[in-house]
Amino acid sequence: MHHDAGFGSRYRLQRALRAAVRWRCGDALAAPEPGPWDLVLCRNVAIYLQPESAAVLWPSLATVLRPGGALVLGKAERPTGVADLVNEGPCVFRRVDAARGGTRNGAGR
Ligand SMILES: C[S@@+](CC[C@H](N)C(=O)[O-])C[C@H]1O[C@@H](n2cnc3c(N)ncnc32)[C@H](O)[C@@H]1O
Repeated sequence: MHHDAGFGSRYRLQRALRAAVRWRCGDALAAPEPGPWDLVLCRNVAIYLQPESAAVLWPSLATVLRPGGALVLGKAERPTGVADLVNEGPCVFRRVDAARGGTRNGAGR
């Protein structure tokens, strides 16, 4: 179990996991935190951006995801114009390697 009990319907990660978290402030439009990341959570950020800014954000986030990694967005958000991000389920977009036929790990066929 990775969380502490005793918080009712809420969860708190165990101390060892909390200690491994690094917090940084940054501008995702200027330079997202360099990856590669298995998971990027970017919920309800793009809905407040102008379309031209969102068009900068999507390829940038795709670049920092490792092939096979997942991008989680808000319900109303779609990463348009990036062939490497495919919709896998509600709010979840998986990075595939479109240039290699859509494989998840970039290894090709
Ligand atoms: C509506 S809030 C969503 C917060 C949270 N992700 C959630 O789902 O509850 C939008 C967030 O986007 C952040 N934001 C806006 N532009 C940003 C940018 N260029 N880079 C990083 N964060 C940004 C704001 O600081 C704000 O915290």
